[in-house]
Amino acid sequence: MTRLSVNINKIALIRNARGGNVPDIIKAAGACERYGAQGITVHPRPDERHIRYHDVQVLKPAIKTELNVEGFPSKKFLNLVKKIKPHQVTLVPDPPDALTSNAGWDTVKNASLLRDTVQQLKSCGIRTSIFIGTDLKMIEHARHTGTQRVELYTEPYSRNFHLNRKKAIAPFIRAANLANQLGLGINAGHDLNLENLNFFVKNIPFLHEVSIGHALVSDALYYGLERTIGMYLKELSGG
Ligand code: PXP
Repeated sequence: MTRLSVNINKIALIRNARGGNVPDIIKAAGACERYGAQGITVHPRPDERHIRYHDVQVLKPAIKTELNVEGFPSKKFLNLVKKIKPHQVTLVPDPPDALTSNAGWDTVKNASLLRDTVQQLKSCGIRTSIFIGTDLKMIEHARHTGTQRVELYTEPYSRNFHLNRKKAIAPFIRAANLANQLGLGINAGHDLNLENLNFFVKNIPFLHEVSIGHALVSDALYYGLERTIGMYLKELSGG
């Protein structure tokens, strides 16, 4: 079954609005795990506007499932992940001032950066994933980096889902099939929600993991965290 990794960046954003420690991200991550999430994702950005670098250090020993740390492989980011050794690092090509990740890697132009980074992380025992779009050439070249997984950037799927869901999913099925043939594990994330998640998972049955933040944390305001996580797990297991 596809695993749910909850991205807790938005919880840190609320905490940072007041400067104290409410809500406590360690407590929130623990609650997500207790309610059934199989992983926790964080994405520290250079301006530390939500998750801070220090948070990642405190989170690692507290996480009982899997910690997935996302980010651009800057020197500071690599030093952090090599020190704390999360279960998985997802490499994302976002510039420092980006509001959110808005594109996958160009695995041709960045071949040597990715190859070198993946090598460094793997030698520390960290599983790697590369954030990527559905261009088949990019998927093929992702394999040359040595990464174990790719994370499909699902924002275009989510945007087009209401117009024509079959058309929206088609490039993702092609990309996932190729990645699967190449022996790459497949994760997915960005703008997945209670409406579009089940159709995605049904069409890509060999999906390892989805990481979901914005919609899930928003839904928790209406339904509560425990019920919300249960609702996402239900979508993942067949709806
Ligand atoms: N995957 C990556 C690489 C991301 O940058 C994000 C957003 O931080 C997500 C997944 C989760 O996206 P969302 O918050 O829209 O669920």
